[in-house]
Formats: sequence, C-alpha cells, structure tokens
Amino acid sequence: NKVVLAYSGGLDTSVIVPWLRENYGCDVVCFTADVGQGVGELEGLEAKAKASGASQLVVKDLKEEFVRDFIFPCLRAGAIYERKYLLGTSMARPVIAKAMVDIAKEVGADAVAHGCTGKGNDQVRFELTFFALNPKLNVVAPWREWDITGREDAIEYAKKHNVPVPVTKKSIYSRDRNLWHLSHEGDILEDPANEPKKDMYMLTVDPEEAPDKPEYIEIGIESGLPVSVNGKVLSPASLLTELNEIGGKHGIGRIDMVENRLVGMKSRGVYETPGGTILFEAVQGLESLTIDRESMQLKDSLALKYAELVYAGRWFDPLRESMDAFMEKITETTTGSVTLKLYKGSVSVASRKSPYSLYRQDISSFESSQIYDQADAAGFIRLYGLPMRVRSMLKQGM
Ligand code: ARG
Ligand code: SIN
Repeated sequence: NKVVLAYSGGLDTSVIVPWLRENYGCDVVCFTADVGQGVGELEGLEAKAKASGASQLVVKDLKEEFVRDFIFPCLRAGAIYERKYLLGTSMARPVIAKAMVDIAKEVGADAVAHGCTGKGNDQVRFELTFFALNPKLNVVAPWREWDITGREDAIEYAKKHNVPVPVTKKSIYSRDRNLWHLSHEGDILEDPANEPKKDMYMLTVDPEEAPDKPEYIEIGIESGLPVSVNGKVLSPASLLTELNEIGGKHGIGRIDMVENRLVGMKSRGVYETPGGTILFEAVQGLESLTIDRESMQLKDSLALKYAELVYAGRWFDPLRESMDAFMEKITETTTGSVTLKLYKGSVSVASRKSPYSLYRQDISSFESSQIYDQADAAGFIRLYGLPMRVRSMLKQGM
C-alpha cells in the first residue's frame, strides 16, 4: 500500500506523514509542486520529508503548465468570482492534484492524501480532480478523520512519533501563495470589521508608499492571451513573474472581500494579485476594440459560470472545457497591444491598438461621415422604440 501526499513541509503535512503510516500502515510518498510559492520553500525539503517518515519526496516544477493551461484560460474567459476574486488558489489546486494522479501511477500508489481542512474549498478542488482523472484512487483527508485539534496537539503528536517539528515560523495568517496570487485568511481578518494590518502584505507595497511617478507598460496580446511585456516576448510564467514585480512596486492588486465558500459558510479573505490585476485590465482594454456588443454580453455572462465552476473545483468538467471552446473562438481576434498606466495602486488603460479593431474613427467621429448617415437614425429609433410607443399609447387610452 502506497499513498501520495500533497506535502508542503509545514507542521500539518509533517504530522500527516506518521499519521498515515500509523493509521493506514502505508508507504508515504510526499509530493511538492512548485507553482511559484517562492524561493526557500523547496530547500531542504527532501531531508525534512524523510525525517517525517516518507519513503521519498517528488518535486515537480509546474509553473509554466500552471500559467499556460490554468491561469491564462481563466484570464481569457474573464473569470472573476463574486465580483473580485481572481481565483488564485482555485486554479492551483487542479494542477497540483493532476500531477498527484500522474505520480500515483508512476510510483504504483493506490491512494492520495491532502492536508486541507474539512471546512474549506480546497478539499473539494483536490478531490473532484482525483475523481475526474482516476476514480479508482482512494482519498485520505486526515483533517476530517483525526482528533488533532490545534497546533499544540500537532506538536505533541510529532514529538511522540519522533518527527522533528518544522522550524519554519508559523505565521498567524493562513496563507496560500503561487505565481498568480497570495491569499491571507484567519486571525484578525476573521472579523470583517477589522482593517488588515499594513505589515500583512507581502507582494505589494502600500499604495500610499508607491512611487510618486507613474509607470507605463505595454502588454502584447495574441488571441486573448498575453505574450509580451514592453515588446519583449516571454514565456507565460516569466511574463507573470515580471508583471508581479512591476505591479507589486506600484501597490497594484490588493483585494479585501467576504466570499461565499462552496461548503456554505462565508469567509473573509485578502488577496494580492499584482500581475494578474494588470493582465485583466489589459485584456479587457483590448476586448473593448475587438469584441462586439452581443458577443461581449454573452462572454461576460458565461464568465460568471466559468468562475463559479473553477471556484468550486470543477476544472476537469466538460462544461468548463466547452466554455473554453467558446472563449477561444470569441477571442480569436483579440490581438494587439495595450499600454497601461500604473500609479499608486491603480492600473488604467492609456492606449489600445489592434489590427482587428472594430472601432472606426471614420464612422464614430464627430466629424461628418460617409458611411454613417445621421438621417438613418430617425427611422431606426422609431422602430426600435415601437414596443415602448405601443405601451405608452395604451396607458394614454390612444
Ligand atoms: N478563499 C480562497 C479560495 O477558496 C483562498 C483559500 C486559501 N487556501 C488556503 N489553504 N490557505 O480559493
Ligand atoms: C482549508 O480549509 O484547507 C483552507 C481554506 C479553504 O480551502 O477554503
């Protein structure tokens, strides 16, 4: 018997290793995905995993796959959950869980395990991905089974099983970081009336302390997907890394919200998504040239559903995949470049250009035009407003 555990090296997952061995008598293979959680986190991890009793640690760099196959499709779709959340954690879970399914096959494991609590969204995202990709795998979620209730308990359990207690200093917040975002939950944030402390933020400077001079950057976009920054063509992960740097410097992408979790409760979260916020502004800015009214309305309405599915862990659902087919087609001509102005926490479009622009100055201009005859508008308005005229006539007894 073998189990693949999603492993971070923190206290919780370190305790899960001996717990799995004790309760399931199985060999534990630890897996750590590099989704851009930051340098340092991967150092010394193998020794740590083995000291906890794991037979091996597998580390995989998923950064390019994460950005290319998960983040960029959501960006192209315009997927935002509950008006604000750019889905950073939601998109990372399926790419990690997918890799776990592959590794389970490689090492001959019949089970997978994760360290998510039974109160959150993450457990759903992991497990729906396991179901979708290999329904035969057994799933173990220790947090829903054991009676370890807090940090002290966990430390005691570790000591009893001769597992070194990780020295990583535990932050007071529950955080999740990857190449797209950093989330903060817990502690003083649990009261929605509390403003976040200034020292909580890690990816962005306080907008009040951001440079007094605005910075302009140009994003190149091809068919709804970003390809370059200031004329430099970059891979998806390096493009995002660069924008995080620039956006962070200008205090861009802080979100503070109360959201509805899938399991029914409300939860307060604060997110930092510097590069992502810039990219959303850029793509939308370009779409304003390339997408017509009705297409935009339908696209935006599907984006709501798309975001809901991603939030709820249904990445590998044919419904999400079908919507992507729509998104791919409708953004075929969303190609061009957008120049953005970054200034003290704000990002705004300064210039947009596209070879497929539907905007025609010769039509839209206040100067007189050959193609558009103002006299045509009178008949159009009379017919367009016919239902309103009829209703009004009825009211007046005409
Ligand atoms: N509330 C966000 C979400 O559901 C962030 C969750 C953060 N997860 C974590 N394990 N700290 O996507
Ligand atoms: C967790 O409960 O593991 C983190 C929060 C969440 O999944 O929403």
